[in-house]
Amino acid sequence: MASKRRGLLLAVVVAVGSALASGAPPVQPPRIQADVVVMGFVPCNNGASMRTGSAPGFPGALVQLQCTAESDGGALAVAANATTDGKGWFRMAVNTTVAPSSVAGRCGLVVDTPLAACNATLPAAGTLRSGLRLLASMVFFPRGFSYYVAPSAE
Ligand SMILES: *[C@@H]1O[C@H](CO)[C@@H](O)[C@H](O)[C@H]1NC(C)=O
Ligand SMILES: *[C@@H]1O[C@H](CO)[C@@H](O)[C@H](O)[C@H]1NC(C)=O
Ligand SMILES: *[C@@H]1O[C@H](CO)[C@@H](O)[C@H](O)[C@H]1NC(C)=O
Repeated sequence: MASKRRGLLLAVVVAVGSALASGAPPVQPPRIQADVVVMGFVPCNNGASMRTGSAPGFPGALVQLQCTAESDGGALAVAANATTDGKGWFRMAVNTTVAPSSVAGRCGLVVDTPLAACNATLPAAGTLRSGLRLLASMVFFPRGFSYYVAPSAE
C-alpha cells in the first residue's frame, strides 16, 4: 500500500517535471492541508542555473525553505525542511507566516548538504540555492538551482 502511494506521488511529481520541461500547462497537484507546498528536484551538480534533467539527482539532501519575515526587520528564518528521496526529489508543506502572495519574493531554497555528499569530486564548500516560482495555486517549484560559494566571512 505504502509503496503504491509513493509510486503515485512520484508519478505526479514526474508528470509535473515533464510538464515544465515541455512548457505544457502544469498538472494540478493533490490538495493537502497547508498554505504552501514546495516541491522539486535537486541536481547533483555545481553548474549555474541547472534545469531538471540536466544532472543526476542529489539523494538525501537537506533542503531548507528560508523566508524573510515581514516583521522582525527582514530576518531570514527556516520555514520548512525536507530531505530529497533517492532520485533527488523533495516535497514540503508549510503553514507559512509569510503572506502566500509574497512567498516567491520572500522565500528561497537552500541545500544544506554539501555537494561532495552526492559526488566526491564536487566541492565540499558552497551551497545550491534557488528562487521559487508559482507552479499552480499555492504550489511552488524551484526556478533552478545554482551553485554559490559561501563567503568566507560567514
Ligand atoms: C529545520 O532543520 C533545522 C536544522 O536541522 C532545525 O534547526 C529547524 O528547527 C528545522 N525547522 C523546521 C521549520 O522544521
Ligand atoms: C497546517 O495547518 C493545518 C490546520 O491548522 C493543519 O491541519 C496542518 O497539519 C498544518 N500543516 C503543516 C504542514 O504544518
Ligand atoms: C561527478 O562529478 C564529475 C564532475 O562534475 C562528473 O564528471 C562525474 O560524471 C560525476 N559522477 C557522477 C556519478 O555523477
